[in-house]
Amino acid sequence: MRLHSTSAAIGAADDLYTQQWLQPANRKNGFASKHRLLHLRSADRCLLAYRPHSLHPPPTTIGKRELRHDSQEATGRQVQLLFPSHPFDKSAADDAYVDEFEAARAIGIGCHLFSFEDFQAGDFKPRPALRAHEHVLYRGWMLSPESFSVLHDAISTRGGFPMTTTAQYRLCHYLPSWYPLCVEFTPSTVVVPRDADFATAVAGKNWSKFFVKDYVKSLTTAQGSSASSPEEIATVVSLIERFRGAVEGGVCIREFERLVPETEERYFVLNGKAYSREGAAPPLVDTISKRIDSPFYSVDAVLAEDGRLRLIELGDGQVSDRKRWPAARFISMLAEGQQQVFAARRKKQDAANIGRFGL
Ligand SMILES: Nc1ncnc2c1ncn2[C@@H]1O[C@H](COP(=O)(O)OP(=O)(O)OP(=O)(O)O)[C@@H](O)[C@H]1O
Ligand SMILES: [Mg+2]
Repeated sequence: MRLHSTSAAIGAADDLYTQQWLQPANRKNGFASKHRLLHLRSADRCLLAYRPHSLHPPPTTIGKRELRHDSQEATGRQVQLLFPSHPFDKSAADDAYVDEFEAARAIGIGCHLFSFEDFQAGDFKPRPALRAHEHVLYRGWMLSPESFSVLHDAISTRGGFPMTTTAQYRLCHYLPSWYPLCVEFTPSTVVVPRDADFATAVAGKNWSKFFVKDYVKSLTTAQGSSASSPEEIATVVSLIERFRGAVEGGVCIREFERLVPETEERYFVLNGKAYSREGAAPPLVDTISKRIDSPFYSVDAVLAEDGRLRLIELGDGQVSDRKRWPAARFISMLAEGQQQVFAARRKKQDAANIGRFGL
């Protein structure tokens, strides 16, 4: 994964902020954006590591005319993608999204860029400006449901239609929201507040080990997120807090299951249809798709040693990594999913007309 290989490359950068910067979760949560300038001052090698285009040719940028052209080409039927812009160049997509941005433009999907840093400071200014009645799919850093709600309202007040509601975002983003709907497919979980007595919370559970995360992320540092005794859970929680800055929501203590290494796969469900990186998605993903009321989310499934396919987590599709999905495959899924929605709407409209006019 990009961030892991980068962390190996910069090795020597070891101050606390740099460690936090290396946490994929923090980059996804916008932590990196907030602290980017600090990093640039304190660790030049981070700059080289995280801005690969400073060593290679610059990313594709789009001029004002092109941006306007993109928007004008949008038929109003097609979803428009909204990406975070590069922190130092508002006409270019952030490095993390440049492949998707280019793949989308290559097949004629309209794209908007906005400065994530400005948005966090209360200023939302997409380029080109959103037009009324546009359907907007955000693809960017993870947001808390509260921040997502601000983004949702900012799109709505400009006349756009955000793809998901805040409730749908929360449903897939927060483990305790989707867990009760998928309980038999995923490791058993106890959800407690940050200040709970964790050992008491798992007393009586016959679990040999524990997997600890907050509502969104686990500990992705070398020591990992597992605890081999109830007493160790507090240590993992403290480390999550230290490396991520805060525990989001509360603490999820999960039964540790024996999983087959390298078998985890990410699937997406778009408008009720399960998509796989290659081939068909397994029946488990289809089953989940009938339970989760959200237009776009990811499903991580892994093979357990006992032969069952297990659900590890759901995520809102707008803020999910592609993992091993090539950008072009991911974007063609979005295009196909959208066409199906509009085809279904047209069919419904035709049926209504036949009923009304007796055609
Ligand atoms: N209950 C569990 N038992 C054993 N291993 C687990 C368990 N839950 C998660 N894991 C392992 O830890 C990895 C990370 O877990 P999870 O996806 O929940 O956290 P995350 O922070 O979202 O990580 P990522 O960003 O890699 O998706 C999983 O890919 C899986 O291999
Ligand atoms: Mg995960």
